[in-house]
Amino acid sequence: MAETIKVNSPNVVYTPEYIEAKYTYHTTQVACDSGCYVVTPRSTEFVFRTERRVPRLGVMLVGWGGNNGSTVTASVIANYLGLTWPTKEGMKEANYLGSLMQSSVVSLGTGEEGDVYVPFRNLLPMVHPNDIVFDGWDISSMDLASAMERACVLDWGLQQQLKPHMAAMRPRPSIYRPDFIAANQFDRADNVLTGTAAQQLEQLRCDIRDFRSKSDVDKVILLWTANTERFALLQPGVSDTADNLLRAIQHDEKEISPSTLFAVASILEGCPYINGSPQNTFVPGLVELAIRHDVPLAGDDFKSGQTKLKSVLVDYLISAGLKPVSIVSYNHLGNNDGKNLSSTKQFNSKEISKSSVVNDMVSSNRIMFRPGEHPDHCIVIKYVPYVGDSKRAMDEYTSEIMMGGHNTIVIHNTCEDSLLASPLILDLVILAELCTRIKLRAIGTNEEFEPFHPVLSILAYLCKAPMVPQGAPVVNALFSQRACIENIMKHCTQLYCRPLEWAY
Ligand SMILES: NC(=O)c1ccc[n+]([C@@H]2O[C@H](COP(=O)([O-])OP(=O)(O)OC[C@H]3O[C@@H](n4cnc5c(N)ncnc54)[C@H](O)[C@@H]3O)[C@@H](O)[C@H]2O)c1
Repeated sequence: MAETIKVNSPNVVYTPEYIEAKYTYHTTQVACDSGCYVVTPRSTEFVFRTERRVPRLGVMLVGWGGNNGSTVTASVIANYLGLTWPTKEGMKEANYLGSLMQSSVVSLGTGEEGDVYVPFRNLLPMVHPNDIVFDGWDISSMDLASAMERACVLDWGLQQQLKPHMAAMRPRPSIYRPDFIAANQFDRADNVLTGTAAQQLEQLRCDIRDFRSKSDVDKVILLWTANTERFALLQPGVSDTADNLLRAIQHDEKEISPSTLFAVASILEGCPYINGSPQNTFVPGLVELAIRHDVPLAGDDFKSGQTKLKSVLVDYLISAGLKPVSIVSYNHLGNNDGKNLSSTKQFNSKEISKSSVVNDMVSSNRIMFRPGEHPDHCIVIKYVPYVGDSKRAMDEYTSEIMMGGHNTIVIHNTCEDSLLASPLILDLVILAELCTRIKLRAIGTNEEFEPFHPVLSILAYLCKAPMVPQGAPVVNALFSQRACIENIMKHCTQLYCRPLEWAY
C-alpha cells in the first residue's frame, strides 16, 4: 500500500511549506413563508491551507499515573519498540486497534482494481503516535512502571518488558482540592502542590516550560485524564468572564476546580487543552480566555464504549422511524475510576455527560417527539472491585413500533476500559495538533487565513458531551461525527467526499 497521497488538480497547490486547496462549501438556507419552507442554496468558496511540517509533539497528561495515563504511555512504548509477548492464546503484538487515525480507512477514489482505501492517517501529514513524548502530573507519586502494574490492564509478560522503560517516569506534583474528587481518593494523594491557586498556576506553567525545553518538543498539548471532578458552581464574578476568572485565581477562590486551573495554565502557555472527563472545566470565563488567546479546547469526556454504541443505536432507531421510549444503561467497574464515581457528586458529573448523548437526535424528529418529549433515560454506575478495569455495560433499549408494538434490544458489553480510552487519547491529541496547522480563508471576503474556532467541535466523535462554539448545533450521531472529520480532512486536498451513507 502506498503511504503518501498527491492530488493531481489545478485547485490543489503543494509548496514546500503548505498544501493549499480550493473548496466550495454548499449550504441551504431555509425560511418559513406562509406555511411553506423556502429553501435557498448557497455556496461559499474557501481556500484551506495546511502546514506540511509535522512537529515533534509533547503530551502532558493530568492523571498520568492512572489507568488511562499508564496504559497509553505503555502502549506507545510497546508499539515504538515493536514488542511481542506470550499469552495463553498465543503471541500478541503491539498495535493501535481502536484508533480512528491508525486503524480505520477512508475511500480515496476508484483505481484499476476498484475502490482504493487508505489509512485515515494518510490523508494529511500528521504526528505518528510512536513519536509522541509523554510527561504529566498526578497526585499519586508512583512511577509509571508501578502505576502500570497497579492498573492491572496489560498482560504480565508485556509489563515485564516495559518496566525498564517506564521506571524513571515520575508524575509531577499536582493540585489536590479534596472537595472536587471523591473522599476515597485521599490515600493516593502523596504528590501534591502547596500554596495558593495563583502559586499553583505559576508552578503548572513552569512545568510546561520545563517539559518543553528538556524534551525539545515543538508543541505541547495538555489532556485531562485524571479523576472525574464534581461540577464547579458557576458563580457570578468568579468564573463568568475571563478577567473575573483570572482575578478569582489571584484571590485564591475555592470554587475554581483543579481542572480549570490546568486549563488556564495551558491557555496561558499557548497549549491546546483537552478534557477527557465529564466535569465542567470549561466555565464561561475559561472559554473566553481560550478565544482571547486563540488556543484550542476540546471535550468533554472520552466517548469510548457504552455511549459510543448509544450514539450509533439511537441514530439507527430514530432514522429508521422507530421511536425509542426507554433507554436504561447499567455499568459496573472495579478500577479507580469506578471507585471515584461511587461518590454521588462525581457520579452526577458522569450522569450529565452520559445523558445528553441522545438529545439532538430526539429533538430532530418532530414526527415522533413533541417539543419537550424525550425517552426515559436512566444511567446507573456501580463499583465492583473484582471486575477491575474490565467494565461491564448493560443496556436495554425499548422502542415503539407500528400499531402499538414494542421492540426491545438488550446489549451486554465487557471490555477493558483503558484499552478503549487509550487510542482515543492518541486520536484526540493528534487531531488537535493537526487542527493547529490548518487555516482557511473565504475567497472574496477574507484576505487573511484564519484558524479554526478555538472550540474544536471537529473532535466531537471522540467526546461523550461534545463542546461546540456558542450557537453551533451539537451533533452526537457517531457516523455524522466521523464524516465531519473525514470531510474536513478531504477538503484540505480537495478529495471527493462521498455522501454520508457511504461513509465507513
Ligand atoms: N474508557 C475510559 O477509561 C474512560 C471513558 C470516559 C472517560 N474516562 C475518564 O477518564 C478519567 C481517567 O480514567 P482512569 O480509568 O484512568 O482513572 P484512574 O482513577 O485510574 O486515573 C486517574 C488518575 O488521576 C489522578 N488524579 C486525580 N486527581 C488529580 C489531579 N487533580 N491532578 C493530577 N492527577 C489527579 C489519580 O491519582 C489517578 O492516578 C476518569 O475521569 C474517567 O471518568 C475514562
